[in-house]
Amino acid sequence: MSLTAPQIRKRKRRHGSEPLVMVTAYDEPGARYVAAAGVDFLLVGDSVANVVLGQADTLHVTVDEIAHHVRAVAAAAPDAHIVADLPWMSYHVSESDTVRNAAVLIRAGAHSVKLEGGANRVAMVRALINAEIPVMGHIGLTPQSVLAMGGFKVQGKTKAAAELLVADAQSLQEAGVFCLVIEGVPSDVGRRVTEALEIPTIGIGAGPDTDGQVLVFHDLLGLSGRPVAKFVRRYADIGAQITDAVSRFAADVRSSNFPAEAETYPTPSELLD
Ligand code: KIV
Repeated sequence: MSLTAPQIRKRKRRHGSEPLVMVTAYDEPGARYVAAAGVDFLLVGDSVANVVLGQADTLHVTVDEIAHHVRAVAAAAPDAHIVADLPWMSYHVSESDTVRNAAVLIRAGAHSVKLEGGANRVAMVRALINAEIPVMGHIGLTPQSVLAMGGFKVQGKTKAAAELLVADAQSLQEAGVFCLVIEGVPSDVGRRVTEALEIPTIGIGAGPDTDGQVLVFHDLLGLSGRPVAKFVRRYADIGAQITDAVSRFAADVRSSNFPAEAETYPTPSELLD
């Protein structure tokens, strides 16, 4: 059975919990393989824009596109906790828009939604929670802020910036988020935010002291066409295996080695005459 948001909320390492594991998933096969590995939750991230759709940033994906991927993931892993990213501009205009957009993702099969930002998102978080939708926060290097940040840059590098991140995290916790992603900050900031909260933190490039870790499916498996960030550990080189397998198929076709007898349907006797 999948973990519920209230169960995840209690998973603090300092209270003896095992670190949480989250991996992104965007389609049925990916979700099936990741769920079979026993991760705690699957994230249908707006990183789909980068790793599946080949875009340079996450600003161009829509609620309907995320919903399309949530449906595929939910078809594969109905028992896994599925978090869906609210894409850029789906929670920036009004509380009613935010709730309606989140409802599209929940109806597509998500169990919670994730949004980026700190104290500036508190009203939207409260509106979602009033509508009974569990919310995960995301602070630090928030990719939807790429234009405002002037690039994908490590955040929280000054004392003031680090203190602001801790304050943002506390505001989000107070508003009711059940879990918080911290991305692209020095390890010390990941630790300080984690220590300041009662809810679990999930790090990505935030050092070893968060309550869990998340990686992007394509980065972890060596399927990513883009240069990967310093914090990525590659556990396989599936991209090279795909190229090798398809090259062997092409060679077999070109040398008439495919299909073999065992890969063809026998001719019915009636057709032999
Ligand atoms: O979209 C995504 O993959 C994410 C993770 C990097 C946390 O938000």
